[in-house]
Amino acid sequence: MNLYSDAFVFFGATGDLAYKKIFPALQAMIRRGRFDIPIIGVAKRDWTSDQLRDRARKSLEEHGGIDPVAFAKLSARLQYVSGDYGDEAAYTRLRKALGNAQKPLHYLAIPPSEFETVAQGLSKSGCARDARIIVEKPFGRDLASAQELNRTLHQFFPESAVFRIDHYLGKEAVQNLEYFRFANSFLEPIWNRNYVERVQITLCESFGVEGRGRFYEEVGAIRDVIQNHMLQVMVLLAMDPPTDSHPEALRDEKIRVFRAIRDLAPGDVVRGQFRGYRDEEGVASDSQVETFAAVRLHIDTWRWEGVPFFIRAGKRLPVTATEVLVELKRPPQRVFDEIKPGQSNYFHFRLSPDVFVSLGARAKVPGEPMMGEEVELIACQHSGEEMSAYERLLSDALRGDPSLFARMDGVEAAWRIVDPILGDLTPVYQYESNTWGPAEAHRIIGNDTGWHNPMPAEGSGE
Ligand code: BG6
Repeated sequence: MNLYSDAFVFFGATGDLAYKKIFPALQAMIRRGRFDIPIIGVAKRDWTSDQLRDRARKSLEEHGGIDPVAFAKLSARLQYVSGDYGDEAAYTRLRKALGNAQKPLHYLAIPPSEFETVAQGLSKSGCARDARIIVEKPFGRDLASAQELNRTLHQFFPESAVFRIDHYLGKEAVQNLEYFRFANSFLEPIWNRNYVERVQITLCESFGVEGRGRFYEEVGAIRDVIQNHMLQVMVLLAMDPPTDSHPEALRDEKIRVFRAIRDLAPGDVVRGQFRGYRDEEGVASDSQVETFAAVRLHIDTWRWEGVPFFIRAGKRLPVTATEVLVELKRPPQRVFDEIKPGQSNYFHFRLSPDVFVSLGARAKVPGEPMMGEEVELIACQHSGEEMSAYERLLSDALRGDPSLFARMDGVEAAWRIVDPILGDLTPVYQYESNTWGPAEAHRIIGNDTGWHNPMPAEGSGE
């Protein structure tokens, strides 16, 4: 199954995801010289291939810029197949466009409600034989619907052919969590309940729902980013080392942690909604959907017993950034009384928009008193992504490497964790834009030392 795919097909070719992410990734892959196969866009609009090429041009002008040589190659390989996804004729046209391709990769950049129709159409027309399929989140909206979706996909594609994109796993800085942990020996002895006090993972965004009100009403912050991106980051921080470099070895270790994460209870979550959300287009005037959530999680393993993991995600917060703070316990004996709670050592993983790993420590300030100050030892730092998450993930799927994709059991375990807190079981507290969410969120972490709020990126103007 590990042969390179010999055609790339993307459904939803005229849509938003293709415009923002897929065309830029395709051009980048061609520029790197790794991608020399037919590219076929499929969608319902009655377009020609030239119209799709125009769309690709506009997409690239807006997202990353045109590389004339790579774009010329992209245009030459790009074909368009139009048709209703329920119409057999569309798949006959697709089969014809595929020519001699034996192992196509089909990317379903379409709403999940259409997955079954398309998977069935591909199967009936012979386009699914030996093919791979990429699906985008959301993978369901709770445990039951995720199981149903997986059953549906498995009618037509074996699990080894299904590639579920969680774009966080394609991010360089997220991969570095795994690398930094397991390529260094100094971390392992302290990476456990004996030395780690708690872990905070924050995804804060200064923007709101940006015209996606209708979509957001169906999801909310817990389904949108916590069930997937944030839990994936948590699992990379908490897992044991994979036994070897086989792709399934990594996914096996991840699932062991997923299984050990306790189900959330209503007391483990505080939900918030920014004031003004209900005025957004497509949003109910009495909406109870959360645009902010703070949760406290526990992992029932020997390594992590008693160490709380806190996740906070929200829109219209003061800063746009994603980061992890692993706080270590204070020294066992208080030799220097000046050290206050919250001033212990820590590891700081900044995942976006800028990227760094640093270690927070204390060092003595020159002078008579034994007084210190906080210093940060920067382990590595760069300004952003060398390769976009989508370019990385599409390249891996074409090679048939599943390591950075969400596996069925992991997705279902993640839904099992958040299922008990979905919906409006808990109150949603209003918060002002440009604040760190509702004051009630302090209850989750405890007031003594509180949440760590990320700093804006340099030059971001925030
Ligand atoms: C997406 C969510 O999956 O992730 C968005 O639907 C969110 O609401 C985005 O803004 C965050 O991703 P990133 O890469 O911008 O941190």
